[in-house]
Amino acid sequence: MELPLNIYGSAVLRKKAEPVEEITPELLELARDMLDTMYKAQGIGLAAPQVGKSIRLVVIDLSKEEDERNPIIFFNPEIQFEDDDNPSEIDEEGCLSVPDIWAKISRPSRVNLTYKNENGETVEMQNVSGKLSRCIQHEIDHLNGVLFTDKMSIADKAVNMGKLKRMAKKQ
Ligand code: NI
Repeated sequence: MELPLNIYGSAVLRKKAEPVEEITPELLELARDMLDTMYKAQGIGLAAPQVGKSIRLVVIDLSKEEDERNPIIFFNPEIQFEDDDNPSEIDEEGCLSVPDIWAKISRPSRVNLTYKNENGETVEMQNVSGKLSRCIQHEIDHLNGVLFTDKMSIADKAVNMGKLKRMAKKQ
């Protein structure tokens, strides 16, 4: 079931989300609904606050084609940055909660990641790089009330200020 998306200016997007204590059938249904919502909007990642739930739940699917879907559900995802020899990378980002704005964002290229999967098992991923690294960093920012617009360059902030103000006013 598709869920309504919260857009830039909604208070829930600025709250720090609560950890998930227990993975219940209701939460698994929420995760499936988040995936439906994400696929419909042609996104690659979605965090629970974007559908109005202030909990630490993220879904990601980086597959390009509908018949290759490969969703990952992350409960309580945490990243550890590798501090040595971990250059930042710049790439373009957008967000389903910030429609029609894209900007180049700098982020650490590699992260180590831990989360609980849908079976409640702890999963550890070392040296996550590329699209998954960028996407999980963007989504975990959502769980901490941070949006990619906060990380835009001063020039991009200036260019998009009017659009963002109009967006926020409608919420
Ligand atoms: Ni986003």
